[in-house]
Amino acid sequence: MMSYTSELSGFHKLNKVEKIAKLKEIIDLTNEEINHLNAIDSPVTIENMIGVMPVPIGLATNFLINGQDRLVTIAVEEASVVAAASNAAKIARKHGGFSTTHTDPIMIGQIQLLDVQNPVFSSHKILSKKQEILDLANKQDPILVKFGGGAIDLETRVIGTAAGEMLIIHLLVNCLDAMGANAVNTMVEACAPLLEEITGGQARLRIISNLADRRVVRARAIFDKEMLGGDNIVEAIIDAWAFADADPYRAATHNKGIMNAISAVTLATANDWRAVEAGAHAYAARFGHYGSLTSYEITEDGHLAGTIELPLALGTIGGATKIHPIAQICLKIMNVKNATELAEIIACAGLAQNLAALRALSDEGIQRGHMKLHARNLAGSISGIKSHEIEVVVKTMLSEGVVRADKAEEILANIRK
Ligand code: MEV
Repeated sequence: MMSYTSELSGFHKLNKVEKIAKLKEIIDLTNEEINHLNAIDSPVTIENMIGVMPVPIGLATNFLINGQDRLVTIAVEEASVVAAASNAAKIARKHGGFSTTHTDPIMIGQIQLLDVQNPVFSSHKILSKKQEILDLANKQDPILVKFGGGAIDLETRVIGTAAGEMLIIHLLVNCLDAMGANAVNTMVEACAPLLEEITGGQARLRIISNLADRRVVRARAIFDKEMLGGDNIVEAIIDAWAFADADPYRAATHNKGIMNAISAVTLATANDWRAVEAGAHAYAARFGHYGSLTSYEITEDGHLAGTIELPLALGTIGGATKIHPIAQICLKIMNVKNATELAEIIACAGLAQNLAALRALSDEGIQRGHMKLHARNLAGSISGIKSHEIEVVVKTMLSEGVVRADKAEEILANIRK
């Protein structure tokens, strides 16, 4: 077994090529592996960067959102996600596509105050100086304020914890088209000393909350019962959703399916998908029980009425999104003008993804569709293969029940003989 030291002193001072060369000194990387690491560069860099992990971007079609057609860019390694979203969007189109609503893009910054005498009384003192605190917060980001955003409100909470009572201050900030982490974190750090002065307590953590429950997006659509496969499927989907909403073990998988689209569009735009994931799952548990992010009902005519509601902290103007050309191209393809529009598209993609998964699970299961796609991907990746050959290779692999790269090559060779 290979063993090496993980103490690489001075590694961070090397450039990328030197870092990879250094890595080669301690790990037996082949020239081909080195070439892979060197092949792609990234406009966004991180500490000790030695490579880039390219993820395919697929185009989900058929989305009609608030009366406007949208092509949706999905960055994910899982083959079935794009087709599933496109199919569900097609079913939603029959009854007018998706409609959305949203709150203002308000993020919460938290300040943890410890050792506060009379925390309830102190919280009232803080609220009596609200304007002074908001002014101090807004001084930190005049640009955000100039464009109509900034700190707009304060909330206080006294919470009991394993380490005693704490006074928690929430600074509410309208982040406009920014995700907001930088702006909010700067504001809460700046306000902390003033809060200490007012309360006599000690400020400790000063950080944004990823439970962005003031920055919520909702989407809804009517999914046509005939296109879904009839009354039985509609009822089976309701059963599947109710199962998820009642049972956290199922809800985790159900919501994972939703995040297949939500995280993937978030990634395609170089937004912080971990923040979005954390917010979504915390929101799904906000009533003390982890349930579904979506819900379904049957309409008078027997169609399926689906909805989704979740927090989406996204930016279109700052961070990696602004400097990453691929993110900019994805925004252009989706025809996104601001962060709220992006959030609306992402919520619709999440609902579509969930409907597609529930429909497949309630009917033939997901494996047959997965195998079809897998077969198509394997055939399509053979270099020089023609489109009519892909069809034959896929059909043969599926009918023989063997879906493997070597089998695809073998079938192709036979066709060409
Ligand atoms: C797989 O990536 C996602 C599903 O498991 C979602 C679900 O079970 O609802 C199919």
